[in-house]
Amino acid sequence: MCGIIGYTGGKEAEGIIVDGLEILEYRGYDSAGIAVSQKDGSVQIRKCVGRVRDLRSLCRKGEIQGTCGIGHTRWATHGGVCDANAHPHRFGKVTVVHNGIIENYRGLAKKYNLQDRLRSQTDSEVAAAVLAHFYNGDPFAAIRKTVLKLKGTFAFGILFEDISEAIFAVRNVSPIVIGQVQEGSMLASDVTALGQYTKEYFVLPEFHVAVLKKEGVELYDMSGEPAEPEWMTVSWDVDKSSKGGYPFYMEKEIMEQPQVIAETVQPRICGGMPDFGVDGIPDNLFEDCKRICVVACGTAMHAGLVGKALMQSLVRIHMDVELASEFMYTDAIVDEETLVIAISQSGETIDTLEAVKYAKKNSAKTLAIVNVRGASVARASDYVIYTNAGPEIAVASTKAYTTQLAVLYLLTGRMAYVRGSFGETEAKSFASQLLLAPEAMQQVLDRKEEIHYIARSILNAKDVFMMGRGLDYSILLEGSLKLKEISYIHSEAYASGELKHGTIALITEDTPVVAVVTQSKLQSKEFSNIKEVQSRGAGVILFMKETFELDKEAAWESVFQLPAMEDSFMVMPASAALQLLAYYVSLDKGLDVDKPRNLAKVVTVE
Ligand code: G6P
Repeated sequence: MCGIIGYTGGKEAEGIIVDGLEILEYRGYDSAGIAVSQKDGSVQIRKCVGRVRDLRSLCRKGEIQGTCGIGHTRWATHGGVCDANAHPHRFGKVTVVHNGIIENYRGLAKKYNLQDRLRSQTDSEVAAAVLAHFYNGDPFAAIRKTVLKLKGTFAFGILFEDISEAIFAVRNVSPIVIGQVQEGSMLASDVTALGQYTKEYFVLPEFHVAVLKKEGVELYDMSGEPAEPEWMTVSWDVDKSSKGGYPFYMEKEIMEQPQVIAETVQPRICGGMPDFGVDGIPDNLFEDCKRICVVACGTAMHAGLVGKALMQSLVRIHMDVELASEFMYTDAIVDEETLVIAISQSGETIDTLEAVKYAKKNSAKTLAIVNVRGASVARASDYVIYTNAGPEIAVASTKAYTTQLAVLYLLTGRMAYVRGSFGETEAKSFASQLLLAPEAMQQVLDRKEEIHYIARSILNAKDVFMMGRGLDYSILLEGSLKLKEISYIHSEAYASGELKHGTIALITEDTPVVAVVTQSKLQSKEFSNIKEVQSRGAGVILFMKETFELDKEAAWESVFQLPAMEDSFMVMPASAALQLLAYYVSLDKGLDVDKPRNLAKVVTVE
């Protein structure tokens, strides 16, 4: 996690860096800092606990001038949240910003007798000190010797005090992208921070050193040989990174879903059939595998669960969904007959990346479903399908999740066809239902004020339970995560049939229950389970497919009728409704919807 940025060029660096940090703030927001190199090579640092806006005021109070600098926004791992632990860290002639974790920092501190000379509790300052230890005027030698000593992950932006107006960068696992801008060059943890200055960028290859100067960027491998960057073009429109008039990114991103889902689906339907020709994925990838294993974290893992429910029932293939963070530590069994699908919005989640590497080592075929182009998970996988969600800034994922679902529908349709569970007519009909999903979601979004009203009934709840069966249960796991992460209300999703095996003991009249009922074959069982909690006094908020018959006698807290699609596709409108529910609870509680406490959007530490 943490966001890093660097700029060197013809303009004052402070404003550019602080603006960039604001864009990167979703990666962590415990503290922020900036270091600017002066003409004489000396480096000025400003840093403080709090948000980037606090750093901005701090910089205003004590002006900081210079045209070359680095910045950091922190998600604390090693060392508490305090000014001293904020980056940049200066040691001797070296100033660094760091994203990642140096696992052997204690050993290094001991080896180089640093204990009494460190001003922070961070692993990052130790790395700065090791660099300073090796630095005797040759930055390449110092970087080379230092990275050989480091264990862990790192993306460093480095200033050397006697080399003015140049930024050095090196990384292992944690991301750095680099771009040439008008009269200068920039680095950042991701392209959104470069977007307003350039559309051309490259991903810094691991264990390579980049030198950013006003005149341009130089790239070297670890032996000091020049290397050629692989330039890429940002496919996102910069305007898409703004709030577009909404109070929070999350609302904007929820509202964008019909459009981005259409943009994800349409290019992958050819002649009415689901088709991955545009992604260069051969059908034998789907034909040859005996089982599928999804690896993912958080919301992306929840998307995998929906995929599993779809694939197992429609393709009749065995599918597991594994938490990427557990995958290799449980010695997961994958082989050349396994298709491992890695799902990740950012494509930088370290556990997902490591899981892909583990899968490849075990001869599995790997397919990534990723939103950010060129991200590490995409590059590490054999094949990649990009979701066209555009930049997702709110920490709580919404449009990335539903575009992942859209890809999983397409995969289900294609796989069912190539493996013979669907004939051509069924595959076409499946694709045509998917094309209707944006409209069904739009109908829910158009009624957002109804959901806003419903949200009031859980505003003051301490606990909220969510219940559903089958696909409804899968999406409630995500609905419940959304609610807890942005409203801080404890919430749990339960498979309705399981509730009575213990958890029903917690249901009282003070425990609102959210129920989703969209699956025809399960509705009668579902309504019986709902009665069980109503009998214990729970007020039930029901999201129900509009064509189902409502028991008008029951005392509903509220009912929201979801536009009808075929059962397998009800996930789409229902997901939009649950996202809005969580959003309005958080909004009405006056919380910072986009930046919930303790979280970060991109998790680059294990
Ligand atoms: C973090 C984010 C979640 C996200 C998860 C996985 O925890 O806050 O919203 O679902 O990481 O991220 P990824 O980028 O791999 O989808």
